[in-house]
Amino acid sequence: MPQPLAILGGKPIRTKPFTSWPIFGKAEEKALVRTLHSGKWGRLQGEEVARFEQRFAAEHGCKHGIAVVNGTVSLRIGLMAAGICAEDEVIVPPYTFLSTASAVIEANAIPVFADIHRGTFNLDPQAVEAAITPRTKAIIPVHFAGQPADMDAIMAIAKKRNLFVMEDAAHAHGASLGSRPAGSIGHLGSFSFQSSKNMTAGEGGIITTNDDALAESCRSIQSCGRVAGGLWYEHHVISGNYRLGEFQGALLGCQLDRLAAQTERRDRNGQYLAARLSQLPGLHPQARPADCTRHSYHLFMMRLVESEFGVSRGAVLNALRAEGIPCSAGYGYSLPQQPLFKNKAFGPYLPKARAKLNYAKVRCANSDLLCSAECIWLEQSLFLGPRKDMEDIVRAFERIHQNRDALNAVFRN
Ligand SMILES: Cc1ncc(COP(=O)(O)O)c(C=O)c1O
Repeated sequence: MPQPLAILGGKPIRTKPFTSWPIFGKAEEKALVRTLHSGKWGRLQGEEVARFEQRFAAEHGCKHGIAVVNGTVSLRIGLMAAGICAEDEVIVPPYTFLSTASAVIEANAIPVFADIHRGTFNLDPQAVEAAITPRTKAIIPVHFAGQPADMDAIMAIAKKRNLFVMEDAAHAHGASLGSRPAGSIGHLGSFSFQSSKNMTAGEGGIITTNDDALAESCRSIQSCGRVAGGLWYEHHVISGNYRLGEFQGALLGCQLDRLAAQTERRDRNGQYLAARLSQLPGLHPQARPADCTRHSYHLFMMRLVESEFGVSRGAVLNALRAEGIPCSAGYGYSLPQQPLFKNKAFGPYLPKARAKLNYAKVRCANSDLLCSAECIWLEQSLFLGPRKDMEDIVRAFERIHQNRDALNAVFRN
């Protein structure tokens, strides 16, 4: 007889919480107090941000790091530095956070959605090829959930068509493809340090690159259009103040010290969980390409196919939560189906082009299916504990599968 499900009155598998996030200690405390007493709280006076930029860039295989206020602005600055102009087209995936596409609109350019791959949940290079028009200028692959996108194929397309590539690595701190760290493969990389991310200062972002000219341009846009050697009140390009503050720089230096060990643990636990869950019918964890040497598991993602597993996603999520496993369905819409895109609520942007755009009719079958029926997310902090935590997640799924008839009897009536 299977153990009864907690949602049907049984004893939950877990009552103990998983690892809580963020993780911090004496090092963060000391760094913040040091910054406080230095009286140098802004990037222009202090050294914390500058030091962090260099270290983060070097650890991600890059010569330059330009820290900014968040991972949305970093995308927009990158597009501006690349010379993306009004009504240029930029190819983005539909299964990503809003910013990947909204940054394109805020650069006054047009996001064109190319579907993701059914197995890897990352931008499908074939769909990218199909989306290219004479107006295409750039591609933004997202290393979704922390798994590097198919960068070899994407860079080959970009080279052939002379396109700019910015990696949205908001989930991918410490991830790698072969010997190449995420953020070092395209022309620019963009990371986020918002609260949920694998490294955080509450908010923040960074642009990474090996291209000196792009770095100089990003640095200028990040700081009011100033240029190296120019007068203080001399402004060369339209921009603003997007500088990160010293308290955040100090925190991020400490978070970076923790990153390698945490990423290694998330990847080890994530791979173990993927191997175990794949043994159950209807569970399809994100497929890992052979050249992915480090998945940062910002999210553990899987498809749950109801006809194979025997229970709907909604019922599984409720049952998992009752067993003490935090989880979610992730995005409810592919981006083109978001009200913002359907209604073309673009504020002052794209005044001319918007009349011709019709996002409401854009369909991306793989992304749409993840959103509407199949996707389950588990967050990164669940992967920072011992192997036993993974065993608990596996047991919860097994128990739900074993009790599928009882669960369906309650949920279907
Ligand atoms: C894929 C992706 N890109 C960009 C961002 C934007 O980062 P931020 O919240 O720091 O602006 C996020 C944040 O959630 C994200 O998930």
